[in-house]
Amino acid sequence: MTDAAFLDYFSDASLAQDPYPFLAGLRSRNPILREPHHGVLVVTGYREADTIFRDHDSFSACVSIGGPFPPLPFVPEGDDISAQIEAHRHRFPIFEHMVTMDPPDHTRTRTLLSRLLTPKRLKENRDYMLGLADRRLDAILEAGRCEFLGDYAKPFATLVIADLLGVPEEDRAEFRRRLTGHEEPGSRVGALDSEPVGSNPLQWLEDTFGRYLGDRRATPRGDILGVLAATTYPDGTLPELIDVVRPATFLFAAGMETVTKLLSSAIRVLAEHPEYQELLRADRGLVAPFIEEALRFESPTKVDFRLARKSTRVGDVDIPAGSIVMLCIAAANRDPRKFDAPDEFRLDRPNSREHIAFGRGVHTCAGAPLARTEGLVTLDRLLDRVTDLAIDDDAHGAPGNRDFRYEPTFLLRGLQELHITYRTAN
Ligand code: HEM
Repeated sequence: MTDAAFLDYFSDASLAQDPYPFLAGLRSRNPILREPHHGVLVVTGYREADTIFRDHDSFSACVSIGGPFPPLPFVPEGDDISAQIEAHRHRFPIFEHMVTMDPPDHTRTRTLLSRLLTPKRLKENRDYMLGLADRRLDAILEAGRCEFLGDYAKPFATLVIADLLGVPEEDRAEFRRRLTGHEEPGSRVGALDSEPVGSNPLQWLEDTFGRYLGDRRATPRGDILGVLAATTYPDGTLPELIDVVRPATFLFAAGMETVTKLLSSAIRVLAEHPEYQELLRADRGLVAPFIEEALRFESPTKVDFRLARKSTRVGDVDIPAGSIVMLCIAAANRDPRKFDAPDEFRLDRPNSREHIAFGRGVHTCAGAPLARTEGLVTLDRLLDRVTDLAIDDDAHGAPGNRDFRYEPTFLLRGLQELHITYRTAN
């Protein structure tokens, strides 16, 4: 591959549809390679990505979402740009959210979240998921076909987070409408509502949670939001209200799209392989490995970014301070040095669970247990309640000539639509 043929990963539409051969081509040249369009160091190797994820001393997360966009707000100087990063932190995209923070601020913020994600809360949330999965399936079973993302995955992923955070039951239809653009037929929240869908949902979330948590600080209550409102830092101090609101609202940004993508890629594989449906139905212990392999095979977060704060060396590559590094999770999880025949979906792969779909190091996905449970519950209920799950030929074309469209984004990997057919199990 010559540099002239080096496609622009960030804008080439064909790469969004199938990034894997391109990324494998880069890896075969070097698992860390500088691309010519934005000067980003592209990391396609498993070991290299793992090393950089864990090294938060040499690599800052300040660019984790934006990568090279917008360009750095300063010209890097010298072999340690830590002071420059701190001086300009407020100019990085979503600097207010934990995913772009570095220790020690990151540690403090993450602690607040860990107070919420307790084993007890996750267990209660799982119970809610079981009921929710059944209600969603009740709504779509009779038709014998559905568009899985809009009809199941998006509302499911959204309502699970609303439940986790203790959003009052009567407000959940509004959350669904605001955040997915869809509402339940017959729902009380309708077209006459004041705010149009599409107004900044993160701002709306901040306002809503600001109100919920502010109310509970004024009048303490024992519900989940009340517990969140009273959460303190480890030293016992009470955070500013906005510092609790932000980790809460960020869960929607982090956990809706990603889980929708996981569920749809897993269901696509299941629908294309009747033999897996048989195997999983007969042995539910195989559902968990199936989810892990789905996370490895089609990692919902394709790439993640870091900024080298100190000049350092990874493998045989010197990385000067100020370099933007793109950690290609989707490529690392298909590195043949780590995973045999990586482009095959293998249910019996012994090391699927070593994928880095949830990242590594201090920023490892805080919602990973939740996402896994959402996958388990969905597949489990679906296997109980439907048979003959298949891809809808009318929507995606006949076998051998299928047409699946993926979202045109460099950040995430997910189907735009997934049409499936099935029969109700007796
Ligand atoms: C399959 C679904 C998911 C995938 C693939 C995924 C992936 C990731 C990845 C790769 C990171 C690391 C970002 C970085 O290091 O820069 C991350 C962070 C995070 N995720 Fe997830 N995620 C998923 C679901 C969820 C869910 C359901 C939630 C919560 C409801 C969630 C909450 C978070 C949070 C809060 C962070 C930031 C952690 C930190 O900065 O310390 N994620 N996720």
